[in-house]
Amino acid sequence: MSTKAAQPQREQWGSRLGFLMAAIGSAIGLGNIWRFPAVTYEHGGGAFLIPYLAALLTAGIPLLILEYTIGRKYRSSPPGALRKLAKPAEAIGWWQVAICFVVATYYAAILAWAVRYTGFSFDQAWGDDPEGFLNNDFLKLNETPGEVSTFVPGVAWPLVAVWVLTLVVLAFGVRRGIERANIVFIPLLVGFFLVLVVRALTLDGATEGLNALFTPDWGALSEGSVWVAAYGQIFFSLSVGFGIMITYASYLHRKSDLSGSAMVAAFANSSFEILAGVAVFATLGFMAQAAGVGVADVTSSGVGLAFVAFPQIISEMPMGALFGVLFFVSLVIAGLTSLISIVQVIVAAVQDRTGLARVPAVLGVGGAVALVSLLLFANDSGLYFLDTADHFINQYGIALAGLVLLITVSWGLRKLPALQRNADATSSVGLGRWWRICLGVITPVVLTWMMVDSLRHELDENYGGYSTDFLLWAGWGVAGGALLVGVVLALVFRRKPAADHPEPADRPDPVDPPERSS
Ligand code: ALA
Repeated sequence: MSTKAAQPQREQWGSRLGFLMAAIGSAIGLGNIWRFPAVTYEHGGGAFLIPYLAALLTAGIPLLILEYTIGRKYRSSPPGALRKLAKPAEAIGWWQVAICFVVATYYAAILAWAVRYTGFSFDQAWGDDPEGFLNNDFLKLNETPGEVSTFVPGVAWPLVAVWVLTLVVLAFGVRRGIERANIVFIPLLVGFFLVLVVRALTLDGATEGLNALFTPDWGALSEGSVWVAAYGQIFFSLSVGFGIMITYASYLHRKSDLSGSAMVAAFANSSFEILAGVAVFATLGFMAQAAGVGVADVTSSGVGLAFVAFPQIISEMPMGALFGVLFFVSLVIAGLTSLISIVQVIVAAVQDRTGLARVPAVLGVGGAVALVSLLLFANDSGLYFLDTADHFINQYGIALAGLVLLITVSWGLRKLPALQRNADATSSVGLGRWWRICLGVITPVVLTWMMVDSLRHELDENYGGYSTDFLLWAGWGVAGGALLVGVVLALVFRRKPAADHPEPADRPDPVDPPERSS
Protein backbone atom coordinates (compact mmCIF):
# COMPACT_ATOMS: atom_id res chain seq x y z
CA MET A 1 0.00 0.00 0.00
CA SER A 2 1.24 3.43 -0.83
CA THR A 3 2.75 6.07 1.35
CA LYS A 4 3.62 9.54 0.19
CA ALA A 5 7.33 9.14 0.64
CA ALA A 6 7.69 5.61 -0.69
CA GLN A 7 5.82 6.07 -3.95
CA PRO A 8 6.96 9.11 -5.86
CA GLN A 9 5.53 7.99 -9.22
CA ARG A 10 1.90 7.63 -10.23
CA GLU A 11 0.92 4.00 -10.03
CA GLN A 12 0.89 1.96 -13.24
CA TRP A 13 -0.78 -1.21 -14.43
CA GLY A 14 1.54 -4.20 -14.31
CA SER A 15 0.69 -5.36 -17.83
CA ARG A 16 -1.60 -4.66 -20.79
CA LEU A 17 -3.57 -7.77 -19.84
CA GLY A 18 -4.06 -6.36 -16.34
CA PHE A 19 -5.43 -3.09 -17.71
CA LEU A 20 -7.68 -4.92 -20.18
CA MET A 21 -9.06 -7.20 -17.47
CA ALA A 22 -9.81 -4.18 -15.27
CA ALA A 23 -11.48 -2.30 -18.15
CA ILE A 24 -13.52 -5.38 -19.09
CA GLY A 25 -14.35 -5.96 -15.41
CA SER A 26 -15.66 -2.43 -15.15
CA ALA A 27 -17.77 -2.78 -18.29
CA ILE A 28 -19.28 -6.18 -17.52
CA GLY A 29 -21.77 -5.61 -14.74
CA LEU A 30 -25.43 -5.65 -13.86
CA GLY A 31 -26.13 -3.83 -17.14
CA ASN A 32 -25.02 -6.87 -19.12
CA ILE A 33 -26.87 -9.49 -17.13
CA TRP A 34 -30.19 -7.93 -16.28
CA ARG A 35 -30.53 -4.98 -18.62
CA PHE A 36 -29.35 -6.13 -22.06
CA PRO A 37 -31.61 -9.20 -22.49
CA ALA A 38 -34.81 -7.29 -21.69
CA VAL A 39 -33.84 -4.18 -23.68
CA THR A 40 -33.13 -6.38 -26.73
CA TYR A 41 -36.38 -8.27 -26.35
CA GLU A 42 -38.45 -5.10 -26.00
CA HIS A 43 -36.84 -3.28 -28.90
CA GLY A 44 -37.10 -5.54 -31.91
CA GLY A 45 -35.33 -8.75 -30.79
CA GLY A 46 -32.76 -9.82 -33.40
CA ALA A 47 -33.30 -6.57 -35.32
CA PHE A 48 -32.12 -4.61 -32.23
CA LEU A 49 -28.62 -5.89 -32.89
CA ILE A 50 -28.37 -3.46 -35.83
CA PRO A 51 -28.86 -0.23 -33.80
CA TYR A 52 -26.84 -1.85 -31.02
CA LEU A 53 -23.88 -2.41 -33.35
CA ALA A 54 -24.29 1.08 -34.81
CA ALA A 55 -24.21 2.53 -31.26
CA LEU A 56 -21.16 0.44 -30.40
CA LEU A 57 -19.22 1.57 -33.47
CA THR A 58 -20.27 5.24 -33.59
CA ALA A 59 -20.44 6.05 -29.87
CA GLY A 60 -19.14 3.26 -27.60
CA ILE A 61 -15.72 2.59 -29.11
CA PRO A 62 -14.97 6.22 -30.12
CA LEU A 63 -15.84 7.43 -26.60
CA LEU A 64 -13.76 4.69 -25.00
CA ILE A 65 -10.80 5.76 -27.13
CA LEU A 66 -11.40 9.42 -26.19
CA GLU A 67 -11.51 8.63 -22.45
CA TYR A 68 -8.42 6.40 -22.70
CA THR A 69 -6.55 9.16 -24.53
CA ILE A 70 -7.49 11.90 -22.06
CA GLY A 71 -6.61 9.67 -19.10
CA ARG A 72 -3.25 8.53 -20.45
CA LYS A 73 -2.18 11.92 -21.78
CA TYR A 74 -3.02 13.93 -18.65
CA ARG A 75 -2.37 11.14 -16.11
CA SER A 76 -5.01 12.22 -13.68
CA SER A 77 -8.54 11.42 -12.50
CA PRO A 78 -11.34 13.23 -14.42
CA PRO A 79 -11.22 16.64 -12.63
CA GLY A 80 -7.43 16.91 -12.92
CA ALA A 81 -7.29 15.53 -16.46
CA LEU A 82 -10.01 17.83 -17.76
CA ARG A 83 -8.48 20.79 -15.92
CA LYS A 84 -5.27 20.19 -17.84
CA LEU A 85 -7.33 20.23 -21.02
CA ALA A 86 -8.88 23.60 -20.02
CA LYS A 87 -9.45 25.05 -16.55
CA PRO A 88 -13.27 25.36 -16.64
CA ALA A 89 -13.58 21.75 -17.90
CA GLU A 90 -12.55 20.63 -14.39
CA ALA A 91 -16.22 21.06 -13.40
CA ILE A 92 -17.24 18.26 -15.79
CA GLY A 93 -14.74 16.01 -14.02
CA TRP A 94 -16.27 16.75 -10.61
CA TRP A 95 -19.67 16.12 -12.09
CA GLN A 96 -18.49 12.66 -13.16
CA VAL A 97 -17.07 12.05 -9.68
CA ALA A 98 -20.46 12.97 -8.17
CA ILE A 99 -22.21 10.57 -10.58
CA CYS A 100 -19.87 7.81 -9.43
CA PHE A 101 -20.70 8.62 -5.79
CA VAL A 102 -24.44 8.27 -6.42
CA VAL A 103 -24.13 5.12 -8.56
CA ALA A 104 -21.77 3.45 -6.05
CA THR A 105 -24.23 3.88 -3.18
CA TYR A 106 -27.03 1.91 -4.85
CA TYR A 107 -24.91 -0.45 -6.96
CA ALA A 108 -23.45 -1.84 -3.72
CA ALA A 109 -26.96 -2.38 -2.34
CA ILE A 110 -27.90 -4.59 -5.32
CA LEU A 111 -24.73 -6.60 -4.76
CA ALA A 112 -25.70 -7.00 -1.10
CA TRP A 113 -29.06 -8.46 -2.17
CA ALA A 114 -27.27 -10.85 -4.55
CA VAL A 115 -24.98 -11.96 -1.70
CA ARG A 116 -28.04 -12.82 0.42
CA TYR A 117 -29.76 -14.56 -2.49
CA THR A 118 -26.70 -16.76 -3.01
CA GLY A 119 -27.40 -18.09 0.50
CA PHE A 120 -31.17 -18.25 -0.07
CA SER A 121 -30.59 -20.40 -3.19
CA PHE A 122 -29.38 -23.37 -1.13
CA ASP A 123 -32.77 -24.02 0.46
CA GLN A 124 -34.90 -21.83 -1.80
CA ALA A 125 -35.87 -19.69 1.16
CA TRP A 126 -38.42 -17.78 -0.94
CA GLY A 127 -40.75 -20.81 -0.93
CA ASP A 128 -43.52 -20.60 -3.50
CA ASP A 129 -43.89 -16.81 -3.43
CA PRO A 130 -40.59 -15.14 -4.49
CA GLU A 131 -42.21 -11.72 -4.93
CA GLY A 132 -43.84 -11.71 -1.49
CA PHE A 133 -40.60 -13.00 0.03
CA LEU A 134 -38.54 -10.22 -1.62
CA ASN A 135 -40.87 -7.38 -0.66
CA ASN A 136 -42.14 -8.49 2.74
CA ASP A 137 -39.64 -10.89 4.30
CA PHE A 138 -36.36 -9.66 2.85
CA LEU A 139 -36.70 -5.94 2.04
CA LYS A 140 -39.53 -5.28 4.56
CA LEU A 141 -40.87 -2.87 1.95
CA ASN A 142 -42.99 -0.01 3.20
CA GLU A 143 -46.31 0.45 1.41
CA THR A 144 -45.66 4.16 0.98
CA PRO A 145 -42.66 5.00 -1.22
CA GLY A 146 -40.34 7.38 0.60
CA GLU A 147 -41.64 6.62 4.08
CA VAL A 148 -38.92 5.22 6.36
CA SER A 149 -39.96 3.47 9.53
CA THR A 150 -37.44 0.71 10.07
CA PHE A 151 -33.81 -0.26 9.54
CA VAL A 152 -33.35 -3.61 7.71
CA PRO A 153 -30.42 -5.56 9.24
CA GLY A 154 -30.82 -8.35 6.65
CA VAL A 155 -29.72 -5.88 3.96
CA ALA A 156 -27.27 -3.97 6.16
CA TRP A 157 -24.83 -6.74 7.03
CA PRO A 158 -24.23 -8.03 3.46
CA LEU A 159 -23.91 -4.38 2.43
CA VAL A 160 -21.18 -3.87 5.01
CA ALA A 161 -19.49 -7.04 3.70
CA VAL A 162 -19.62 -5.75 0.10
CA TRP A 163 -18.08 -2.46 1.19
CA VAL A 164 -15.32 -4.09 3.23
CA LEU A 165 -14.33 -6.29 0.27
CA THR A 166 -14.40 -3.37 -2.18
CA LEU A 167 -12.32 -1.12 0.06
CA VAL A 168 -9.77 -3.84 0.83
CA VAL A 169 -9.16 -4.35 -2.91
CA LEU A 170 -8.85 -0.58 -3.43
CA ALA A 171 -6.53 -0.18 -0.46
CA PHE A 172 -4.02 -2.52 -2.09
CA GLY A 173 -3.71 -0.11 -5.00
CA VAL A 174 -4.00 -0.25 -8.76
CA ARG A 175 -1.56 -3.03 -9.52
CA ARG A 176 -1.72 -5.14 -6.37
CA GLY A 177 -5.42 -4.61 -5.69
CA ILE A 178 -7.55 -3.75 -8.73
CA GLU A 179 -5.45 -5.53 -11.35
CA ARG A 180 -5.01 -8.73 -9.37
CA ALA A 181 -8.66 -8.89 -8.35
CA ASN A 182 -9.78 -8.57 -11.98
CA ILE A 183 -7.26 -11.11 -13.24
CA VAL A 184 -8.81 -13.61 -10.81
CA PHE A 185 -12.47 -12.54 -11.03
CA ILE A 186 -12.99 -12.14 -14.79
CA PRO A 187 -11.91 -15.66 -15.88
CA LEU A 188 -13.91 -17.03 -12.91
CA LEU A 189 -16.97 -15.09 -14.03
CA VAL A 190 -16.65 -16.28 -17.63
CA GLY A 191 -16.24 -19.89 -16.40
CA PHE A 192 -19.33 -19.71 -14.16
CA PHE A 193 -21.33 -18.06 -16.89
CA LEU A 194 -20.43 -20.66 -19.49
CA VAL A 195 -21.71 -23.36 -17.13
CA LEU A 196 -24.93 -21.35 -16.70
CA VAL A 197 -25.33 -20.97 -20.47
CA VAL A 198 -24.85 -24.70 -21.11
CA ARG A 199 -27.33 -25.58 -18.35
CA ALA A 200 -29.84 -23.02 -19.66
CA LEU A 201 -29.55 -24.28 -23.23
CA THR A 202 -30.29 -27.85 -22.15
CA LEU A 203 -33.55 -26.90 -20.39
CA ASP A 204 -36.91 -27.76 -21.95
CA GLY A 205 -38.32 -24.66 -23.61
CA ALA A 206 -34.89 -23.06 -24.21
CA THR A 207 -35.51 -22.84 -27.96
CA GLU A 208 -38.76 -20.92 -27.49
CA GLY A 209 -36.92 -18.49 -25.22
CA LEU A 210 -34.19 -17.91 -27.80
CA ASN A 211 -36.73 -17.55 -30.59
CA ALA A 212 -38.52 -14.89 -28.54
CA LEU A 213 -35.26 -13.02 -27.98
CA PHE A 214 -33.75 -13.18 -31.44
CA THR A 215 -36.69 -13.29 -33.89
CA PRO A 216 -36.25 -9.97 -35.66
CA ASP A 217 -39.00 -7.41 -35.79
CA TRP A 218 -37.65 -5.32 -38.65
CA GLY A 219 -40.43 -2.75 -38.25
CA ALA A 220 -38.85 -1.71 -34.94
CA LEU A 221 -35.91 -0.18 -36.82
CA SER A 222 -38.07 2.70 -37.97
CA GLU A 223 -38.87 3.68 -34.36
CA GLY A 224 -36.65 6.38 -32.85
CA SER A 225 -37.01 4.93 -29.35
CA VAL A 226 -35.27 1.73 -30.45
CA TRP A 227 -32.17 3.65 -31.50
CA VAL A 228 -32.26 5.70 -28.30
CA ALA A 229 -32.43 2.46 -26.29
CA ALA A 230 -29.42 1.05 -28.15
CA TYR A 231 -27.27 4.10 -27.40
CA GLY A 232 -28.44 4.13 -23.76
CA GLN A 233 -27.50 0.48 -23.37
CA ILE A 234 -24.03 1.02 -24.86
CA PHE A 235 -23.27 3.99 -22.56
CA PHE A 236 -24.24 2.22 -19.37
CA SER A 237 -22.78 -1.11 -20.32
CA LEU A 238 -19.40 0.17 -21.49
CA SER A 239 -19.11 2.47 -18.44
CA VAL A 240 -18.53 5.55 -20.62
CA GLY A 241 -19.51 8.99 -19.36
CA PHE A 242 -18.74 8.18 -15.68
CA GLY A 243 -15.04 9.11 -15.87
CA ILE A 244 -14.04 5.54 -15.05
CA MET A 245 -12.04 5.02 -18.20
CA ILE A 246 -10.24 8.36 -17.82
CA THR A 247 -9.19 7.22 -14.35
CA TYR A 248 -8.13 3.70 -15.36
CA ALA A 249 -6.23 5.03 -18.40
CA SER A 250 -4.32 7.47 -16.18
CA TYR A 251 -2.37 4.45 -14.88
CA LEU A 252 -1.39 3.31 -18.39
CA HIS A 253 2.15 3.23 -19.67
CA ARG A 254 2.92 6.13 -22.03
CA LYS A 255 3.45 3.81 -24.98
CA SER A 256 0.33 1.69 -24.56
CA ASP A 257 -1.97 0.87 -27.45
CA LEU A 258 -5.23 2.77 -27.00
CA SER A 259 -7.52 2.06 -29.95
CA GLY A 260 -6.66 -1.67 -29.99
CA SER A 261 -7.38 -1.96 -26.25
CA ALA A 262 -10.67 -0.10 -26.64
CA MET A 263 -11.79 -2.52 -29.35
CA VAL A 264 -10.82 -5.58 -27.32
CA ALA A 265 -12.64 -4.27 -24.22
CA ALA A 266 -15.74 -3.27 -26.19
CA PHE A 267 -16.07 -6.55 -28.08
CA ALA A 268 -15.44 -8.59 -24.91
CA ASN A 269 -18.22 -6.65 -23.19
CA SER A 270 -20.64 -7.16 -26.07
CA SER A 271 -19.82 -10.88 -26.34
CA PHE A 272 -20.61 -11.27 -22.65
CA GLU A 273 -23.81 -9.33 -23.16
CA ILE A 274 -24.97 -11.70 -25.93
CA LEU A 275 -24.02 -14.67 -23.72
CA ALA A 276 -26.14 -13.22 -20.92
CA GLY A 277 -29.05 -12.74 -23.33
CA VAL A 278 -28.83 -16.41 -24.34
CA ALA A 279 -28.66 -17.62 -20.71
CA VAL A 280 -31.51 -15.42 -19.50
CA PHE A 281 -33.90 -16.11 -22.38
CA ALA A 282 -33.23 -19.85 -22.56
CA THR A 283 -34.11 -19.93 -18.85
CA LEU A 284 -37.22 -17.76 -19.31
CA GLY A 285 -38.26 -20.14 -22.12
CA PHE A 286 -38.12 -22.97 -19.58
CA MET A 287 -40.21 -20.99 -17.12
CA ALA A 288 -42.82 -20.13 -19.77
CA GLN A 289 -43.12 -23.73 -20.89
CA ALA A 290 -43.47 -24.99 -17.30
CA ALA A 291 -46.24 -22.44 -16.68
CA GLY A 292 -47.90 -23.11 -20.04
CA VAL A 293 -47.71 -19.44 -21.06
CA GLY A 294 -45.83 -17.43 -23.71
CA VAL A 295 -42.31 -16.07 -23.10
CA ALA A 296 -43.79 -12.54 -23.22
CA ASP A 297 -45.71 -13.30 -20.03
CA VAL A 298 -42.63 -14.15 -17.99
CA THR A 299 -40.19 -11.57 -19.33
CA SER A 300 -38.86 -9.01 -16.87
CA SER A 301 -35.67 -7.10 -16.19
CA GLY A 302 -33.73 -5.64 -13.30
CA VAL A 303 -34.94 -6.43 -9.82
CA GLY A 304 -37.93 -8.39 -11.14
CA LEU A 305 -35.74 -10.63 -13.28
CA ALA A 306 -32.99 -11.40 -10.78
CA PHE A 307 -34.93 -11.50 -7.52
CA VAL A 308 -38.39 -12.71 -8.58
CA ALA A 309 -38.29 -14.58 -11.93
CA PHE A 310 -34.97 -16.37 -11.35
CA PRO A 311 -35.87 -17.60 -7.82
CA GLN A 312 -39.09 -18.99 -9.29
CA ILE A 313 -37.14 -20.81 -11.99
CA ILE A 314 -34.55 -22.07 -9.49
CA SER A 315 -37.36 -23.68 -7.50
CA GLU A 316 -38.75 -25.37 -10.58
CA MET A 317 -35.66 -26.77 -12.25
CA PRO A 318 -33.69 -29.91 -11.43
CA MET A 319 -30.49 -29.02 -9.50
CA GLY A 320 -31.92 -25.55 -9.03
CA ALA A 321 -29.76 -24.80 -5.97
CA LEU A 322 -26.56 -25.15 -7.99
CA PHE A 323 -27.97 -23.00 -10.80
CA GLY A 324 -29.07 -20.38 -8.29
CA VAL A 325 -25.70 -20.20 -6.58
CA LEU A 326 -23.91 -19.88 -9.93
CA PHE A 327 -26.30 -17.15 -11.09
CA PHE A 328 -26.09 -15.02 -7.96
CA VAL A 329 -22.34 -15.49 -7.53
CA SER A 330 -21.92 -14.37 -11.17
CA LEU A 331 -24.04 -11.31 -10.44
CA VAL A 332 -21.88 -10.53 -7.39
CA ILE A 333 -18.58 -10.91 -9.28
CA ALA A 334 -19.75 -8.93 -12.32
CA GLY A 335 -21.05 -6.16 -10.08
CA LEU A 336 -18.07 -6.11 -7.73
CA THR A 337 -15.53 -5.48 -10.49
CA SER A 338 -17.72 -2.61 -11.74
CA LEU A 339 -18.21 -1.19 -8.24
CA ILE A 340 -14.44 -1.20 -7.64
CA SER A 341 -13.93 0.88 -10.79
CA ILE A 342 -16.69 3.32 -9.84
CA VAL A 343 -15.29 3.96 -6.34
CA GLN A 344 -11.74 4.24 -7.71
CA VAL A 345 -12.81 7.37 -9.63
CA ILE A 346 -13.69 9.13 -6.36
CA VAL A 347 -10.62 7.86 -4.52
CA ALA A 348 -8.29 8.97 -7.32
CA ALA A 349 -9.96 12.39 -7.56
CA VAL A 350 -9.51 12.99 -3.82
CA GLN A 351 -5.91 11.76 -3.94
CA ASP A 352 -5.05 13.94 -6.91
CA ARG A 353 -6.66 16.90 -5.21
CA THR A 354 -5.29 16.56 -1.71
CA GLY A 355 -2.11 14.56 -1.97
CA LEU A 356 -3.50 12.02 0.50
CA ALA A 357 -1.91 8.58 0.44
CA ARG A 358 -4.02 5.73 -0.87
CA VAL A 359 -5.11 4.07 2.37
CA PRO A 360 -6.46 7.19 4.11
CA ALA A 361 -8.11 8.25 0.84
CA VAL A 362 -9.77 4.83 0.46
CA LEU A 363 -10.91 4.83 4.09
CA GLY A 364 -12.21 8.41 3.97
CA VAL A 365 -13.94 8.22 0.60
CA GLY A 366 -15.06 4.61 0.92
CA GLY A 367 -16.29 5.19 4.45
CA ALA A 368 -18.41 8.15 3.33
CA VAL A 369 -19.93 6.33 0.33
CA ALA A 370 -20.57 3.21 2.42
CA LEU A 371 -22.27 5.24 5.14
CA VAL A 372 -24.60 6.98 2.68
CA SER A 373 -25.29 3.63 1.05
CA LEU A 374 -26.28 2.09 4.41
CA LEU A 375 -28.43 5.04 5.44
CA LEU A 376 -30.34 5.19 2.16
CA PHE A 377 -30.76 1.56 1.20
CA ALA A 378 -30.82 -0.57 4.35
CA ASN A 379 -34.30 0.66 5.28
CA ASP A 380 -37.86 -0.19 4.32
CA SER A 381 -37.97 2.35 1.46
CA GLY A 382 -34.57 1.23 0.10
CA LEU A 383 -36.00 -0.34 -3.06
CA TYR A 384 -37.91 2.83 -3.97
CA PHE A 385 -34.84 5.01 -3.39
CA LEU A 386 -32.70 2.64 -5.42
CA ASP A 387 -35.10 2.45 -8.33
CA THR A 388 -35.53 6.21 -8.66
CA ALA A 389 -31.84 7.05 -8.09
CA ASP A 390 -30.92 4.59 -10.86
CA HIS A 391 -33.52 6.07 -13.20
CA PHE A 392 -32.56 9.72 -12.74
CA ILE A 393 -28.79 9.30 -12.72
CA ASN A 394 -28.86 7.17 -15.87
CA GLN A 395 -31.37 9.15 -17.87
CA TYR A 396 -29.98 12.57 -17.04
CA GLY A 397 -26.71 12.48 -15.09
CA ILE A 398 -24.56 10.18 -17.23
CA ALA A 399 -25.99 11.08 -20.64
CA LEU A 400 -25.84 14.81 -19.92
CA ALA A 401 -22.27 14.63 -18.59
CA GLY A 402 -21.27 12.74 -21.77
CA LEU A 403 -22.96 15.32 -23.96
CA VAL A 404 -21.35 18.30 -22.21
CA LEU A 405 -17.93 16.62 -22.33
CA LEU A 406 -18.20 15.96 -26.06
CA ILE A 407 -19.42 19.44 -26.93
CA THR A 408 -16.70 21.00 -24.76
CA VAL A 409 -13.86 18.89 -26.18
CA SER A 410 -14.90 18.87 -29.82
CA TRP A 411 -16.55 22.27 -30.33
CA GLY A 412 -15.55 24.44 -27.37
CA LEU A 413 -11.86 23.53 -27.13
CA ARG A 414 -11.44 21.96 -30.59
CA LYS A 415 -9.09 19.39 -29.09
CA LEU A 416 -10.13 16.33 -31.07
CA PRO A 417 -7.36 16.61 -33.72
CA ALA A 418 -4.65 16.91 -31.03
CA LEU A 419 -6.08 14.02 -29.04
CA GLN A 420 -6.32 11.95 -32.22
CA ARG A 421 -2.63 12.52 -32.95
CA ASN A 422 -1.79 11.54 -29.38
CA ALA A 423 -3.77 8.27 -29.63
CA ASP A 424 -2.44 7.48 -33.11
CA ALA A 425 1.17 7.87 -31.99
CA THR A 426 1.03 4.59 -30.05
CA SER A 427 -2.08 2.76 -31.27
CA SER A 428 -2.35 -0.33 -33.44
CA VAL A 429 -5.44 0.94 -35.28
CA GLY A 430 -5.20 4.46 -36.71
CA LEU A 431 -8.14 6.81 -36.12
CA GLY A 432 -9.48 8.44 -39.22
CA ARG A 433 -11.78 11.37 -39.70
CA TRP A 434 -14.65 9.02 -38.77
CA TRP A 435 -13.56 9.22 -35.13
CA ARG A 436 -13.97 12.99 -35.03
CA ILE A 437 -17.29 12.84 -36.89
CA CYS A 438 -18.66 10.21 -34.47
CA LEU A 439 -17.62 12.23 -31.41
CA GLY A 440 -18.26 15.72 -32.71
CA VAL A 441 -21.49 15.16 -34.63
CA ILE A 442 -23.23 11.76 -34.43
CA THR A 443 -22.98 11.08 -30.69
CA PRO A 444 -23.91 14.62 -29.53
CA VAL A 445 -26.95 14.55 -31.83
CA VAL A 446 -28.07 11.16 -30.51
CA LEU A 447 -27.43 12.17 -26.89
CA THR A 448 -29.49 15.35 -27.29
CA TRP A 449 -32.27 13.30 -28.82
CA MET A 450 -32.01 10.86 -25.89
CA MET A 451 -32.39 13.66 -23.36
CA VAL A 452 -35.41 15.15 -25.15
CA ASP A 453 -37.03 11.73 -25.51
CA SER A 454 -36.51 10.93 -21.80
CA LEU A 455 -37.95 14.27 -20.73
CA ARG A 456 -40.96 13.73 -22.97
CA HIS A 457 -41.61 10.35 -21.34
CA GLU A 458 -41.14 11.92 -17.92
CA LEU A 459 -43.84 14.48 -18.62
CA ASP A 460 -46.19 11.96 -20.30
CA GLU A 461 -46.35 9.54 -17.40
CA ASN A 462 -44.88 9.21 -13.93
CA TYR A 463 -41.86 6.91 -13.91
CA GLY A 464 -42.61 3.55 -12.25
CA GLY A 465 -46.15 4.66 -11.33
CA TYR A 466 -44.77 6.69 -8.38
CA SER A 467 -46.59 9.80 -7.19
CA THR A 468 -45.47 13.15 -8.61
CA ASP A 469 -44.50 14.31 -5.12
CA PHE A 470 -42.22 11.34 -4.57
CA LEU A 471 -40.60 11.69 -8.02
CA LEU A 472 -39.96 15.40 -7.54
CA TRP A 473 -38.51 14.73 -4.12
CA ALA A 474 -36.34 11.85 -5.35
CA GLY A 475 -35.23 13.64 -8.53
CA TRP A 476 -34.17 16.77 -6.66
CA GLY A 477 -32.67 14.57 -3.96
CA VAL A 478 -30.40 12.85 -6.49
CA ALA A 479 -29.48 16.14 -8.20
CA GLY A 480 -28.93 17.96 -4.89
CA GLY A 481 -26.96 15.06 -3.40
CA ALA A 482 -24.70 14.84 -6.45
CA LEU A 483 -24.20 18.61 -6.46
CA LEU A 484 -23.32 18.58 -2.77
CA VAL A 485 -20.75 15.80 -3.25
CA GLY A 486 -19.19 17.56 -6.25
CA VAL A 487 -19.01 20.92 -4.52
CA VAL A 488 -17.69 19.54 -1.24
CA LEU A 489 -14.96 17.56 -2.98
CA ALA A 490 -14.04 20.34 -5.40
CA LEU A 491 -14.15 23.34 -3.07
CA VAL A 492 -13.59 22.16 0.48
CA PHE A 493 -10.45 20.13 -0.10
CA ARG A 494 -7.36 22.23 -0.52
CA ARG A 495 -5.60 21.94 -3.88
CA LYS A 496 -2.20 20.38 -3.40
CA PRO A 497 -0.29 18.26 -5.92
CA ALA A 498 -0.34 14.64 -4.79
CA ALA A 499 3.00 13.25 -3.78
CA ASP A 500 2.34 10.13 -5.81
CA HIS A 501 1.01 12.10 -8.78
CA PRO A 502 3.75 14.65 -9.20
CA GLU A 503 3.58 15.44 -12.89
CA PRO A 504 3.19 19.13 -13.63
CA ALA A 505 0.09 20.05 -15.59
CA ASP A 506 1.85 21.43 -18.62
CA ARG A 507 4.63 18.90 -19.02
CA PRO A 508 4.57 17.87 -22.70
CA ASP A 509 3.50 14.31 -23.39
CA PRO A 510 6.51 12.60 -25.02
CA VAL A 511 4.27 10.56 -27.32
CA ASP A 512 2.75 13.69 -28.84
CA PRO A 513 4.08 14.25 -32.37
CA PRO A 514 5.29 17.81 -33.02
CA GLU A 515 2.43 20.29 -33.51
CA ARG A 516 1.38 20.80 -37.10
CA SER A 517 -0.91 23.52 -38.26
CA SER A 518 -4.04 21.66 -39.34
N1 ALA B 1 -20.85 -1.03 -16.93
C1 ALA B 1 -21.41 -1.39 -15.69
C2 ALA B 1 -22.61 -2.25 -15.87
O1 ALA B 1 -22.90 -2.69 -16.95
C3 ALA B 1 -21.70 -0.18 -14.87
O2 ALA B 1 -23.28 -2.55 -14.93
